[in-house]
This record gives sequence, structure tokens and C-alpha cells, in this order.
Amino acid sequence: MPGSTTRPNGADAQPSPPPPDTLPAEPRVRRPHGLTGSRVRRSLALMGRGLRDEWRTYVLAIGSSAVFGVLTVAVSSAIGTVTDEVVVPALAGDEAARDRIWVAGLVLAGIAVTLAASVAARRIFAGNGYAALQARHRTAVTRQYLRLPMSWHRAHPAGQLLSNASSDVEAATGVFNPLPFALGVVVMIGVSAVMLFRIDVWLACAALVVIPVAVAVNIVFQRYMSPAITRAQQLRAEVADVAHESFEAALLVTSLGTADREESRFAARTDALRAANVRVGVVRAFFDPVIELLPSLGTLLVLGVGTVRLAAGGVEAGEIVTAAYLLTIMAVPVRAFGWVLGELPRGLVGYERISRVVDAGGVLAPGTGGLPGAGGLRVRLDGVGVDVRAAGRPVTLLDDVDLDLAPGATVAVVGSTGAGKTTLVSLLARLSDPTRGRVTLDGTDVRDVREGDLTAQVALVAQQAFVFEDTVRANVTLADEGHGPDDARVWDALRLARVADVVERLPEGLDAPLGERGANLSGGQRQRLAIARALVRRPRLLVLDDATSAVDPRVEQQILAGLRHEGADRPTVVMVAYRMASVALADVVVHVESGRVVDVGTHDELLARDAGYRDLATAYAREAERRAADEQDAADDEIRRHEQQEADATADLPEDELDRHEDEEADDVVRRAEAGALEE
Ligand SMILES: Nc1ncnc2c1ncn2[C@@H]1O[C@H](COP(=O)(O)OP(=O)(O)OP(=O)(O)O)[C@@H](O)[C@H]1O
Ligand SMILES: [Mg+2]
Repeated sequence: MPGSTTRPNGADAQPSPPPPDTLPAEPRVRRPHGLTGSRVRRSLALMGRGLRDEWRTYVLAIGSSAVFGVLTVAVSSAIGTVTDEVVVPALAGDEAARDRIWVAGLVLAGIAVTLAASVAARRIFAGNGYAALQARHRTAVTRQYLRLPMSWHRAHPAGQLLSNASSDVEAATGVFNPLPFALGVVVMIGVSAVMLFRIDVWLACAALVVIPVAVAVNIVFQRYMSPAITRAQQLRAEVADVAHESFEAALLVTSLGTADREESRFAARTDALRAANVRVGVVRAFFDPVIELLPSLGTLLVLGVGTVRLAAGGVEAGEIVTAAYLLTIMAVPVRAFGWVLGELPRGLVGYERISRVVDAGGVLAPGTGGLPGAGGLRVRLDGVGVDVRAAGRPVTLLDDVDLDLAPGATVAVVGSTGAGKTTLVSLLARLSDPTRGRVTLDGTDVRDVREGDLTAQVALVAQQAFVFEDTVRANVTLADEGHGPDDARVWDALRLARVADVVERLPEGLDAPLGERGANLSGGQRQRLAIARALVRRPRLLVLDDATSAVDPRVEQQILAGLRHEGADRPTVVMVAYRMASVALADVVVHVESGRVVDVGTHDELLARDAGYRDLATAYAREAERRAADEQDAADDEIRRHEQQEADATADLPEDELDRHEDEEADDVVRRAEAGALEE
């Protein structure tokens, strides 16, 4: 919404809905993913949407299946014709018939080859369609994960998300395996029915009774199957969730020796899943044989009715045999529909679970405006409030926040734990939107800014630094090779974040691989890498949410001082900080308590007039002293323990690795000593 970014001040106190004209930024207004209506309607919609989404592939798959159906019926009459007109006369000595035997052979061979080709084609196309639909669902689900706000993610554990993108997608698409076959061979029901009616109406009715019976059986089946499947899918997600949590907490589990507890937690869920899957299997075990049995029951019925009709002179014995044969042909589609119907309950449950993600509200609609200009951004918050629902009750996390931060200023946000600092600073990068009021950057509401502009100009470094299992370069640029900033810029950022020396020491430099989650980096190194990642984008607003907690104070100060001397183009820096030495570097300090801004001013001003701030500052200083003393005490023990561990662990390490270990250890000791000295 360019050109109308400033709203009347009177609107500030109102929650601002996304302006309607930002919607065209979406490719098109999406229809809701979820299915509505009766079960039959939802089932038909599920299959219809899949077929429509991949219609080209399914036309070919169903077409191939129909060819198979027609040829299967054709084979019977072809064999009959060949037997009557070629084989029998040839055996009787008819010369002309003997000459035609090779023609008959060719016809039969042609049919057989076409039959085989139709089976292959159907399997290939059906397989393609199935894989394409899975890819579609997975993309839709993961795209939505990336667009949903953090509040949604907090309420949905990672294991559930993994399960939505894996087992729920598989469940939702399972029905598309038998579907093309079933739809293609419907033609067999048609052909057999016509032939049956041509023989005798009563025989045909007896044969076709199997179809309503199959429907009735399915209704009963669905009634039992749906709850069983719903529970199994939910438990599958829970198992994934527990497993994911255990892996994530590997360090904690090992260090606190709670492996047994984790194991029994996991075992409880898997046992429940086993029971649920057995239940699903039992229901299916009743359904499948009944469906398989139906054609045989149909044959019995045809023979029974046939006997009566034969006695009444309505049909001949041969016609009853033909009718019984037609029933075996009809059994193929009946079975195929049985498979489809058997998969449908699972499909519906999977689809509904995916839909809950795809239809989840709260996606932050991106704006269409830009953020022109250069240099630090002016940040304003006007009457900002944030409410969330927790345990069904509304909770106010931020209220009545007014701030005006000058471009290029370094701003420290200080407050006790749970005061609302993270909530406040995450609004600046639009990780969520305020419930009331507005956040503006250079006068433009963040809700009106194009997504690309916002991410390019505002960089947030979170409390937890995440490192991808990739090279140093890729972790800093977060771009594919050749698409991101060049190496010179990467080195600049690394230097500014005071992590260049660590990378220089790695034999592969920028190409050095970092283990999963940066396992081969220390906590402080990971944080510095995360800062470099933000700096390489040359943001105009840098938000550091306690992003230097694991960095020693000397380096933290170097980083902050480096940012302040970036020249005229220096970014506005908003940092959540705990160390008074760092807070003192800020131009402005914002004191937040219980979701409200208590005071804004310089460190000295706040010390002089804000009693709460003074308490906080004293507490931080005391905490720093205590930590320094503890660290000094622990340092000797630590070194001794390290020496012992190193002696065990490095016995067979290569030499350069050994050097690196020694360097790191020396760094560590120096860092601890410096930390103590500085904080005191
Ligand atoms: N989605 C949520 N639902 C309910 N409460 C929340 C939610 N997010 C945050 N909170 C609560 O809001 C308060 C502020 O959280 P926030 O993370 O902003 O604190 P903080 O000042 O950054 O704390 P810390 O210094 O520990 O990082 C906390 O009491 C927290 O429990
Ligand atoms: Mg926080």
C-alpha cells in the first residue's frame, strides 16, 4: 500500500487489520483447504481435488486402466471366437481354418501385449500422480509453516509438524494408489452389466445385488474405522513428537541421566500406537474379507436364481455359465472399489490434519510498500499492545508502549526476566504483529512493507543462535553459492562480529563445514556467527535479543563499538542486554517491566531517577560478580577435568586437530579470566 502508509493517529488505539489491498500480493485468494459436509461429500471432494490437481497424469492412468478393463472383457470373447471359428474347425480338419491359426495367434498375442502395456502404463502414471500429490501437500504444509507466526509455532510441537508433513500426507494420498485402477475398471461393471441384462433381467439383478451390499458394508466399516484411524494418526504424531524432543534434549538427557525416563515415555507412546494400529488392523481384517467374499456370494446367488429361471425355462444352462463368468469379471472392479473404500477413512483423517495447518489463521499478510533510503531506520512504536490467549484466557504481554528511536541510535532494552523484552523487539522484525497500535520504520507501518524489504533491512539475532549443517559461508549468507554477498563482505561481517579469527583458523576457511546445529562451535562462536549473518545483510535496523549472552564481555563491547563506528550509514541497533558495561554503551536505555515501558533515557539518567532500574543494575552487577567468582573457582577444576578428558579423547587425534584443541582451551581460559576481570 504505497503512498498511504501513514494512518491517522486516531486509529492508533485500534487493532489495525491488514489493509484489504495487500491481498493481491498473494498469488490468488485460496479456497479453504479443509473439507466440509457429509462423509460421502468429503470423500468425493478429497478424490476429486486430487484428480483435478494432477488431471493430465490421471487421465492417462485411468485411460490405461480402462484399456485394461475393456481388453480383459475382450479376451474372453476373443478366445470364444477363436475357439469356435479357428481352433475347433482346424481340429476337425478344415484347411482354411488351419491357415488362419497364425492370424488368431497374432490377435491373441496383440491383446496380451496391449494388456501388459496397459498395466505398466497405469502403474507408472498412477505412481507419478501419487508422488506429485504428496509433493503438493508437503509443499503446501511447509510453505504454511514458514508463513505462520511464532505464536502458532509455539502452540504446535515440532514432532506434530513433522508428522503433518510425513505420515499425514501419506495418509491423505493413500487412496490415490487404487483409485485410477478402480475408476478405469468401472467400464468392466458397465460391460458385464449390459451383457448380463441381455441374457436375463433376473440373473442381472441377482448379480448386481453385490453393489448395494458393498456400499452397506462400507458404511458400517467407516463407522468403526474413522475413530480408530484418527487415534492412530494422532498417536503417530505424538510418537514423532516424543522422539524429536528426546533427540533435541540429547545433551540434557545424557547429562542428567534421564535416558530411562525418556525411554519409558517413548515406550508408552509407541505401545499406545501399536494398540491403535492393531485396532485399525482388526477393523480392516473384518472388512477386507467381506468385500472379497461378495463376488463369490454373488455367484451363488446367480446360480440359485439361475436354477429357478432354468426350471421356468427363462434361460439356458450355457447362459448361467456365462453369467457366472461375467460375475468374475465384475469382481475385479468391486474389489478395486473395496481398496479405495478401505483407504478413504485414513485419507480423510490425514487430509483434515493437513488442512488444519494449511487453513491456520494468523499468517502475516505482507505489505506492498518499500523502505527507501539508506542509513539507520527511525523506529517508532505508538500505543503498542500485544495480547495472546494462554490456556483459554487473554493475557496482555505488552501494553501502551510508545517509543521513538532515532536513526543510527544504539538502544538497550533492559528489564527483568519475563518483562516482555523479546515480545517487544520481535515486533520490530515483524515476527508478530501488535494487537493494538502500530510499529513504524521511517514512518512506514511494518505491516505495509514488502516482505523482501523488511527481511533485507531489519535483521534480528535471537536468544538462541541456530546454525545449519552447512559451510561457514552458507551459514553467513544463507544463500546458494554465487547468489549471496561476495566473500569480501562475508569476511567484513565476520570481522565485525569478532569471529573472523575462528574461521581463519579452520583449514577450509569459509568452506569449512559446520556440524549439525553448529556442534563443532562453542556457544559464543555460534552467537558471533549469528551476528555476522545479520551484519552481512548490512541491515538498517539490527535487533539483538540477548544475542551476546555467551560472548565474553570484551568481545561484546568490541562488537557494539564496531557497530557504533560504522559511519554515517550505521544501523539503528536495538539490543536486549544484561551487562551494565554494554548497557552503558547505548545512547538510550529503555526499561521494560511487566509489559510496559517504565522509563526511557541514558544509563546515567535512569540510574539517577528510576529506582527499579537502579535495583536491576545493582542486581546485574552483583550477579556478574558472583558469576565471576564462581568461574574463577570452577576454572581450576575445569582445567583439571579438561586435561583428563583431553588426554583420553585426543589420544588418537591428528596433530592439527590437537593444536586446535589446545588453542580453544587456551582461549577458553583467557576468556573466563577476562570475563571475571571485566565484570568486576
Ligand atoms: N505466546 C505466549 N503465550 C503466553 N505467554 C507468553 C507468550 N509469549 C510470551 N509469554 C509471556 O510473556 C512474558 C514476556 O515474555 P518475553 O519472552 O517477552 O520476556 P523477556 O523479557 O524476553 O524474558 P527473558 O529475559 O527471560 O528473555 C513472559 O511472562 C512469558 O511467559
Ligand atoms: Mg527474552
